[in-house]
Amino acid sequence: MSIEANNAGCRPHVWDRGDGGLSNDLPALREQLEALAGGWQVSLLGTPLGEPLPLWHRPAVQPGAARLLIACGFHGEEPAGPWGLLAFLRQTARAELDRVQLSLLPLVNATGLAAGTRFNRRGENPNRGFMPWLHPDTPSAEGQVLISHAEQLGALGAGGVLSCHEDVGVAGAYVYTYERTDAPAAFSHRLRDALAEHLELHPDGDVDGCPIAEGIVHNQIDGSFEAWLFDRGASVAACVETPGLQPFERRVAAQAAAIRAFING
Ligand code: NI
Repeated sequence: MSIEANNAGCRPHVWDRGDGGLSNDLPALREQLEALAGGWQVSLLGTPLGEPLPLWHRPAVQPGAARLLIACGFHGEEPAGPWGLLAFLRQTARAELDRVQLSLLPLVNATGLAAGTRFNRRGENPNRGFMPWLHPDTPSAEGQVLISHAEQLGALGAGGVLSCHEDVGVAGAYVYTYERTDAPAAFSHRLRDALAEHLELHPDGDVDGCPIAEGIVHNQIDGSFEAWLFDRGASVAACVETPGLQPFERRVAAQAAAIRAFING
């Protein structure tokens, strides 16, 4: 998620999904998502690089239900995020969704997903440039669309933000978490434990230049989408990372489990 290795942005990564399709099949992903859109209000935030960037929203059934935002597919070589969201939507009863006020960005970087590349077609990193006062990165085409909807996204994720990523170069799962505490608390542990049900955790020490302990990187403000919304006031935020060296279907299952743990908090 954090540090870009040389050429990491343009080398394609594509996996067999296990049902005969490939992880970069953008038309299939969109078609399968659209089949699950009943009960959701779908709006278009913009068309970065000519591709729709949709926002899904379920109105609150219970007044005061937590407003939660889940974002997937910032990096195109991390396809278990959007496919994991799809798996979660298929597995989840409407009553479970109705406990919260949920919003989704099912796929941010469509051109990257289709190519199997980390960055978008223009070579930009869609998960950087959100906090230029801390990190002088230029926002991507997708980032500009998201930044132009800052107030809306901040409101929709006021109770929590989850971004679903992968780390293609590692064998263990981990999670970046943001909490108003000095040490990892229940939110961090819940997401980490959900990943650990499906995958080994990343060893303690260092990951992408950040200290990691027991599968958690805590409160590292890095200019990402999730750090930005935490800085804007979200109660908690996180970025789950499933490991690209593990089988694709296990990564999809871990993503769906992390999403479930996030909304069941
Ligand atoms: Ni990523």
